Amino acid sequence: MRFGVLGCADIAARRFLPALARVAGAEPVALASRSPSRARAFAERFGGAPVTGYQRLLERDDVDAVYVPLPAGLRAPWIERALLAGKHVFAEKALATGGEEVRRLVEPARAGKLTLMENFAFVHHRQHAVVRRLLAEGEIGEVHEFRAVFAVPPRPPGDIRLRPELGGGALLDVGVYPIRAALHFLGTNLKVSDAVLRYDDTLGVDVIGGTRLAAPDLDVRLLFGMTTRYASGYQFLGSRGSLTVEQVFTTPPEHRPVVLLERGGRLERRTVAPDDQWGNILRHFTDVVTGAAPVAEDASAGELLVRQAELADEVRAQGKPRSALSAPDGTAFHTPGR
Ligand SMILES: NC(=O)c1ccc[n+]([C@@H]2O[C@H](COP(=O)([O-])OP(=O)(O)OC[C@H]3O[C@@H](n4cnc5c(N)ncnc54)[C@H](OP(=O)(O)O)[C@@H]3O)[C@@H](O)[C@H]2O)c1
Repeated sequence: MRFGVLGCADIAARRFLPALARVAGAEPVALASRSPSRARAFAERFGGAPVTGYQRLLERDDVDAVYVPLPAGLRAPWIERALLAGKHVFAEKALATGGEEVRRLVEPARAGKLTLMENFAFVHHRQHAVVRRLLAEGEIGEVHEFRAVFAVPPRPPGDIRLRPELGGGALLDVGVYPIRAALHFLGTNLKVSDAVLRYDDTLGVDVIGGTRLAAPDLDVRLLFGMTTRYASGYQFLGSRGSLTVEQVFTTPPEHRPVVLLERGGRLERRTVAPDDQWGNILRHFTDVVTGAAPVAEDASAGELLVRQAELADEVRAQGKPRSALSAPDGTAFHTPGR
């Protein structure tokens, strides 16, 4: 699979291109930037041809698939151009700024029999399969509540996440992770019942938020933000105990996840083997493109892509700009044993 990259983004250098090098049969053939010197520097470092301008990359016949790490507000138009140029697309989250945009992207993907995948690499880490198995085996009894948090420290001035004209804001950058985790574990039958978004009035972007989702027989609470310390975890509360995992969204390949099971005040730690979530999702993407794996629920089939974006829309629509929200600084749930 011959990949092109639209934009010499930090995440392309830090995660995507190193992970691509670990995927058999995949290679970067063209790296595009608005700036000729950035494209050249990227190509010298990672291989492939430097290209000035994204459209010129899409016109190349030697590119089968493109990676789109552009700012959230620019992603949908470039994904659409890429699909219309006949390229498979692996794009950063959030795929677009709203459900309507995502629905418009799913159509050309279907029509062109092209794979369109949103990069939620965390879903492809084995720790979540372990969690699913423990829940299915009734380790904490009947699950009544799911909580998840993703919060990151403040971004430097001028960062794309702080610029409203580029689709900045915490909901689209970090809020989409706990939403995706809820969809992963609980299915698509979820609705926003309440939401809070706190805006930075000077910047004009949302910086902290939280939402409560209505799910059959279950209470779901999600928190996110980009003003506090790093926090990334989820917790299930059940009739017999709780299950907690931390560092779940951007888990590095060397990290040994620990699943904490608390029952009747007794704490048990289950260690999970490290896993390469970026390598896994890229192998999954190339397998779907080549037909080695069936079209997955998170690819062009659409329902999950659209529902994900619609839930973010609902959070925005209901997100009352209150400041009473408890800060998403890890206090979203009590970690047993601390
Ligand atoms: N999945 C993950 O684990 C993960 C982690 C971090 C970030 N991300 C996602 O990746 C995206 C990129 O994040 P990043 O930290 O890599 O950001 P970044 O370094 O600022 O990269 C964004 C790129 O977009 C291009 N761009 C095009 N028009 C632009 C404009 N008007 N202003 C600024 N940049 C523009 C630039 O490429 P050229 O200048 O070369 O054209 C720039 O390098 C984010 O939106 C985020 O959602 C995902």
